[in-house]
Order: sequence, then C-alpha cells, then structure tokens
Amino acid sequence: MPIGNIVLLGCGGYIGSHLLDRLLREPGNKVFGWDLEHRKIEQYLNNPALDFEESNIGSAYARQRLEEQVASADVVINLAAICNPAEYNTEPLRVLDANLFDLQPVLRMCAEQRKWLIHFSTSEVYGRTISSYLPDESFDDPDLYVLKEDETPLIMGPIRNQRWTYAAAKQVVERLVYAYHRERGMPFTVIRPLNFFGPRMDYLPGHDGDGVPRVLASFMAALIDRKPLQLVDGGWARRTIVSIDDAMDAVMAVLQQPERSQNQFFNVGNPDNEVTVRELAELMRAVYAEITDDPTYLEHPIHDVSAADFYGAGYEDCDRRMPSIEKAKALLGWTPRKSLRTTLLETMRAYHETYVVNAAAPPAEATGPAVGSEGAR
Ligand code: NAD
Ligand code: UGA
Repeated sequence: MPIGNIVLLGCGGYIGSHLLDRLLREPGNKVFGWDLEHRKIEQYLNNPALDFEESNIGSAYARQRLEEQVASADVVINLAAICNPAEYNTEPLRVLDANLFDLQPVLRMCAEQRKWLIHFSTSEVYGRTISSYLPDESFDDPDLYVLKEDETPLIMGPIRNQRWTYAAAKQVVERLVYAYHRERGMPFTVIRPLNFFGPRMDYLPGHDGDGVPRVLASFMAALIDRKPLQLVDGGWARRTIVSIDDAMDAVMAVLQQPERSQNQFFNVGNPDNEVTVRELAELMRAVYAEITDDPTYLEHPIHDVSAADFYGAGYEDCDRRMPSIEKAKALLGWTPRKSLRTTLLETMRAYHETYVVNAAAPPAEATGPAVGSEGAR
C-alpha cells in the first residue's frame, strides 16, 4: 500500500538512505526529500518519485518551499540531525541548531496544518539509568534500568558535561511535539531508535570522511586499515543493537498503521542483542576474520583509551540502553528478528565489499564508496 506524499527531512543520511530504499520501491509514493548532502542517495536523484532539495531545512528558502510541501503531505518524517557523539561536546551550538532550532519552523507548520509528524528522536532522551546513580550500580532490578516509553524518567548529567546537548535538544523537541499535539491537535509519532546497525552509517575515516564516526564505522575503519580498535574507558558501556532491516520494518509498520501508531512514542531496538562495547569489539574482529578468511584478525589489537583523550572534555557515556519493545510488539505487531551475529555478518560483509573489494577494482568497475546501495539483506 503506498503511503502517498511524504516530506522526508534528512533523507540523505544513513537511515534516510535505507528508508528511501523502502519508500521508492512502492509505486504511488512521492517523496519530497531534504538534506545537506546526497552522497548516499545518488542512485535516486533522477527518480521522478523523489523531489530532492540539497538545502538546510532552517533556511528562509526551505521554510517557503516546505510550507507548500507540508500542505500537500500525507506525512512529514524528520530524520535531520547531528547525531554523532564526537560532536556533542565539541560543537554543541551546531548540535543544538541542527536538532532543535532548524527544526522548529517545520514543527510549527505541521501543527498549523495538523499534519502527521513522525519524529526520529533517540534513546539518549532516557540519559542514564537509575541504576547508574545507585551506590552499587546494580542491574538486578529491571525497574531501575529497562527503558519504557511512557514511564521511565529522563535523566541527564550536569550542563558542563556537554555530551547531553544532543539528548537535551531531542528531549525539547519531543516536548514540543507533544505540546503541539495536546494544544493544537497535531498527530504525531515519536520513534526512539536504539543503535541501528547496517551499511552506510556515517563515513569511514580516511576513506570518505575525517573525524570520529559512530562505533560501527569507527571499528570497521580500524579493521579495514589494520589499525587498533580504540576502546573508550575499557568498553564498559552496554548497547543493544538492532539490524537496520528490522528497524526499517518497524518504521514501515508505523507508516502503514496510522490508527495504531499515531500519538505514540516507540522504542525501536532489540533487547536480545545486548553487548558491552568490549564484547562488540571482540565480536567484530572475529566476524571480520570469518569474512576475510584471515585468522590474524582474531588477535587484532584493541587499545584502551580514556573518554577524555578520545572525545575531549565534557563527554559522559550512557551506561546501558535496554529497551522495552512491548508497545511496538502490541500496537504494531513488530518484532526484531536478526541476531547480533547475523547483523554484524551482513553489515560487515557489505562494508568489505564497498571499501575493500570494490575499492580495489579497476576504476571503470568501481562504485564510489559509501554510495553503494548493496544492503544487508
Ligand atoms: P545521519 O547523520 O546519517 O543523518 C542525518 C542527516 O540529516 C544527515 O544526512 C545530515 O546531512 C542531515 N541534516 C542535518 N542537519 C540538517 C539540516 N539543518 N537541514 C537538512 N539536513 C540536515 O543520521 P542517522 O543515523 O540517519 O539518524 C537519523 C535520525 O535518527 C536522527 O534524528 C538521529 O538523531 C536519529 N537516531 C539515529 C540512531 C541510529 O542508530 N542511527 C539512533 C538514535 C537516533
Ligand atoms: C549514538 C548516538 O548518540 C546517536 O546516533 C543515537 O542517538 C544513539 O547512538 C542511539 O542509538 O540511541 P552512542 O551509542 O553512544 O550514541 O554512540 P557510538 O558512537 O556508536 O558509541 C557507542 C559506544 O562505543 C560508546 O560507549 C562509545 O564510547 C564507544 N566507542 C565509540 C568506542 O569505544 N570506540 C569508538 O571508536 C567509538
């Protein structure tokens, strides 16, 4: 079933490129897409079902154009953000602009026109678990660490720990969205993703970008370049990882069932795929040994680095992100299916194809890194 007219902000990013794969597969969908870049969606730029604007959604031009697009839209989806932890404490003003102020005019438009807004928030709005503030940091009681959309308090660290600028901006947007719903009748859905893993996340430093990307891309680049994996503070923090394919199934379930998904907050994650970051590093090198058929990867070096040295002052980690996904199961009929190992195998294979196999091919056959649409499916 087509969704209809879709305004998609941030459609050139990691999740945006995967969502476009799904939306443009369905005849009858028309996407009005916005992003600051197009590298990951190059293959769709000539598709008549995509009307792409390479522009800042906070610009005067965008406000004018979006007014018309929102008027004709069946749904507005917001993915636009700066969502890389390496930037939260080093460029907090840009982070606040991208995640909050640039978006505010669009929120107002959706409210005035009573358009359904699907906003991608983050698990980081939960901040740290209650457990992490207790003297023994006990994880014995799930009530103190399992994240429930409508019950769990949102706990962030002090202002000088600028890690929290992103989470704070995202929390304000959620509060704005909810206020527009309550006071102006705007229908909404808030999705809180928990570490989606798949091809095309961020960039690989030294290949198609510079800086510190999120952990999947960071570890992937280190493996490909045979450099040590950098493990922040010993890799004590825990994450639950969900395959991008399972995650996109959840988003499609939201889009296809407005009567069940509207005016709800949903965690989208996989509670069965929990690891410490150290375990993730060890698993990734083992999986890469299998993909490359090179047993030396089993002993690939993993170096400890302090958070202060790696991210700079003001970084503070989220200790644990264990989602309850009962709401998504009950209302959307969605359950994630892919194990962590399968997710890593498929994802890392796709990276290997793009950055090692295709990059080594003669120029005529080479596909540009990061553009490759070979997905983990
Ligand atoms: P991404 O960085 O790959 O994509 C975000 C895109 O937004 C980028 O392409 C960027 O150029 C664009 N953008 C930023 N500011 C813009 C502006 N002012 N105007 C136009 N475009 C702008 O990130 P992603 O992983 O695809 O995440 C998408 C959304 O999901 C974000 O809101 C993020 O906070 C949220 N999220 C993602 C994850 C995850 O696991 N990937 C987890 C939690 C939350
Ligand atoms: C990320 C980002 O904040 C957002 O994309 C998103 O909102 C959130 O995930 C989410 O999925 O909910 P985080 O998981 O902390 O947050 O970001 P990563 O950069 O992927 O880091 C994960 C863990 O790996 C952290 O403990 C980090 O310190 C560690 N790490 C990261 C390393 O040990 N080494 C690295 O090279 C990179």
